[in-house]
Amino acid sequence: MSSYECIITAVHGDGPRKTALITLNRPKALNALSDPLFDELGEALLAFDADDSIGCIVLTGSERAFAAGADIPTLAQHDFQSAVRTDMITRNWEHILRVKKPVIAAVAGFALGGGCELAMMCDFIIAADTAKFGQPEVKLGVTPGAGGTQRLPRAVGKAKAMDLLLTARMMDATEAERSGLVSRVVPADKLLEETLAAAEAINGFSAPALQLIKELVNRSFESGLKEGVTSERRVFHAVFGTDDQREGMDAFLNKRPPVFKHG
Ligand code: CAA
Repeated sequence: MSSYECIITAVHGDGPRKTALITLNRPKALNALSDPLFDELGEALLAFDADDSIGCIVLTGSERAFAAGADIPTLAQHDFQSAVRTDMITRNWEHILRVKKPVIAAVAGFALGGGCELAMMCDFIIAADTAKFGQPEVKLGVTPGAGGTQRLPRAVGKAKAMDLLLTARMMDATEAERSGLVSRVVPADKLLEETLAAAEAINGFSAPALQLIKELVNRSFESGLKEGVTSERRVFHAVFGTDDQREGMDAFLNKRPPVFKHG
């Protein structure tokens, strides 16, 4: 059903709000992240974000690779001047950060360089037991360019991040879960099923509450504790103005499932 060349889009679920599934699809290059791929990914993400029938977005790759990094043949053509002039990497890589709905990365196989950075731009990562994460840019004589030196230490701590960034080694799914990069590890043949089930659970909740939680967690990630906790308290007060808060609490008190308005 999708008209894209580098990604495949589909919609899953029977409920009032559904899950958008975006699959990176450059199998011959292990889903290397090219400019055309990011143009398509950005367009699909923002379209699903604007679609009221979609509650949650899942981003995945193939069994062999979520993505093996930025497209090296394209990178190899750049010099400093052209990198600056074309706004290399930043131009179309960060549309995903504008998405207000939850975005889950379902990672099997390699998530390296830009692939690991893209997974880290999602709200959380569910990994197959085959997943391998790493920032091997140093092997190419370069630094990471899409958040690897910033998001990785925040996710796994300085020691583990330095180890991965400076030695270029890969870490497996067990180590990634132990160090906090991924939220859960599942058998490879259950990756999509488990991730879609997580998305389905999210789809049943209040959309404004989900959006605000995402905003607050990201703010805490990107700012100091005092500012984050102050914002959290103010937003907590504000949600007491919503129908969904009254419905959620009334349902609990009356021992019935809630029926959220989502809007
Ligand atoms: N870009 C373009 N093509 C890539 C690619 C990439 N990042 N990674 C793999 N491919 C291609 C290979 O060139 C190969 O193509 P051909 O069959 O046409 O030769 C195909 O995918 C399969 O790869 P391999 O034969 O190498 O498969 P393997 O199983 O032996 O190794 C791998 C797999 C360890 C992932 C290895 O391919 C590899 O090391 N890839 C590069 C990983 C990397 O360095 N990523 C960082 C890129 S820079 C970056 O991302 C910058 C940033 O921060 C934004």
